[in-house]
Amino acid sequence: MNMSNTAEFLANPVLSLVDVCQSYGNTNVIENLTFSIRKHEFLAIVGPSGCGKSTLLRLMAGHERPVFGRVFRTGKVLTITQHGGLLPWMTAGENVELALRSIRDRRERDAARSQMLELVGMAGSANTYPHELSGGMRQRIELARALAGSSEVLLMDEPFSALDYLTRLQMRTELVRILSEQPRTIVFVTHDVEEAAQLADRVIVLSTRPATLKLELVPGEDIRPRPLTGESVTSSVKKLLRALGMEDRS
Ligand SMILES: Nc1ncnc2c1ncn2[C@@H]1O[C@H](COP(=O)(O)OP(=O)(O)O)[C@@H](O)[C@H]1O
Ligand SMILES: [Mg+2]
Repeated sequence: MNMSNTAEFLANPVLSLVDVCQSYGNTNVIENLTFSIRKHEFLAIVGPSGCGKSTLLRLMAGHERPVFGRVFRTGKVLTITQHGGLLPWMTAGENVELALRSIRDRRERDAARSQMLELVGMAGSANTYPHELSGGMRQRIELARALAGSSEVLLMDEPFSALDYLTRLQMRTELVRILSEQPRTIVFVTHDVEEAAQLADRVIVLSTRPATLKLELVPGEDIRPRPLTGESVTSSVKKLLRALGMEDRS
């Protein structure tokens, strides 16, 4: 991180971890992690399965306290998971409305609900139940609900990993479009290095457990999602794989 970046982080951090360690019994899961996230940054976190990524998100959300170190938060934080947290007995529209309960006026609330469904391209599915929707559609509703709330930081725990490849590619484009209309600070956990390289302002690579910071990478190139087969994604993927100990020897 250069000096001007450092100054920007210090001026505008929405979430900071300082020397954070976590362990369960004798198992060290996270060791000395220090980093900050600035407002409206898209930070991707990649690391091998079981290294402590979900644990890290629970610490960031405040669902757990670290055994050592501090987590600083300035606003509300919300977690979106891979398996989805839609209530199955409520329609898509009712699920989104859960995040709009603070709006007392019925008509105003309906309008906000329609606006959020439209934002995620689901205007026609307000009365549909989650089990009637595809995985990609459910993730769109999850996003609508998350964005309808007042949380500044969205922690996304492998949100697209249950989707098929083509839907995943499509959701990356959609996520970029949706965030350009409703900016938020994003922490995006993924084991898909391509996804991280296409989407993130900055990628953090974690080691195997206990998770330590292995590499911090800024893929460059401003258009998002970065072209899948373009130079900046392919060169970032190489660096990320190397940091994960997956040298490409082909
Ligand atoms: N509440 C807990 N109690 C004991 N061990 C846990 C707990 N939560 C996570 N772990 C262990 O911590 C490690 C990291 O888990 P997790 O954060 O889910 O990894 P990841 O999300 O990177 O796959 C795993 O070995 C897991 O078994
Ligand atoms: Mg996990």
